[in-house]
Amino acid sequence: MTLILGIETSCDETSAAVVKDGKIVLSNIVKTQMSHQEFGGVVPDLSSREHVEFIYQVIQDALDKASVSIKEIDAVSAVNGPGLIGSLMVGLMAAKGIALRHDKKLIATDHVKGHLYGNMLSHDKLSFPSLGLVVSGGHTSLFIVNEDFSTREVGKTLDDAAGEAFDKCAKMLSLGYPGGPALEKAAYQKNCRYKKFPVAKLNSLDFSFSGLKTAVMYFLRETEESVVEEHRGDIAASVEDAIVSQLINTAKKAFDIYKTKSVMVAGGVSANRMLRARFKETFEKRKTEVFVPEMKYCTDNAALTAGLAYTYWIKNIFSPIDVGVYSRN
Ligand code: KG4
Ligand code: ZN
Repeated sequence: MTLILGIETSCDETSAAVVKDGKIVLSNIVKTQMSHQEFGGVVPDLSSREHVEFIYQVIQDALDKASVSIKEIDAVSAVNGPGLIGSLMVGLMAAKGIALRHDKKLIATDHVKGHLYGNMLSHDKLSFPSLGLVVSGGHTSLFIVNEDFSTREVGKTLDDAAGEAFDKCAKMLSLGYPGGPALEKAAYQKNCRYKKFPVAKLNSLDFSFSGLKTAVMYFLRETEESVVEEHRGDIAASVEDAIVSQLINTAKKAFDIYKTKSVMVAGGVSANRMLRARFKETFEKRKTEVFVPEMKYCTDNAALTAGLAYTYWIKNIFSPIDVGVYSRN
């Protein structure tokens, strides 16, 4: 039996988890920072300061909830990128401190790969190779995922990430923060054909959302406030449709090239109901296995790093104590 303590502090969630054998989540504490709400977006300085304040309590809570002592842990893992540098440092330094003090192996993991691992925690068995679509606030990429969770990126966003597009459009539509869930709520059961926003069609497996953002900005500028007021939900639904359509179109294109044994979606935006439904519907028709993570494993949480770290543990791959953090892949 292998017990891994995972720590995640890449953005605005302070999280710690204990995962057994890369599969059984004994605890997964997620403390979402709410102080960013008044600024309408994550403020990096505030984020790292709050991580410092809460990290040790969150780690202790994760150990307590799992009924595991630090001595019983085999390894400690932390996300070391991509993410906010100051925030990542807090989690990684906490992990290093534990590794040194208690003589434990250290395993630094990639945040984006961790998202894909959410499917491993959600389903009994996955089939490989898989085509993985990661959609979060910082990333929108397509990967070929192998059984050992090694990945090869075959497409990525050229500008904004899908979550960023949700967040920015939600802000322009005065829907509140965090933008993705707020926009989804406003769009629920509204008319997604109300306004046809542009869906980028690139000559590759890449994505682009900056055109959509500009189109929404001009549309709002040119439309009477009373009309926006009356149709806010329909506009939100039209934005959601444009984002999801591009994600599905590009994933479909990639699948037709790689014809993988399965497809999976992951990351914060994979909590979106329209995306989940269309992803399933599209790929079930293509007769491949379709994996969508449980809601609790979509957004940032430390079970993802603790689970992914197990794939390194079984190969005896550990991080040196001077491993650093990185902001981008
Ligand atoms: O993976 P995540 O928790 O953090 C990053 O790695 O960025 O993803 C956060 C992103 C945010 O942009 C948020 O607005 C978006 O995921 N998101 C959603 C939904 N829930 C979270 N977007 C659309 N619909 C949702 N239900
Ligand atoms: Zn994330």
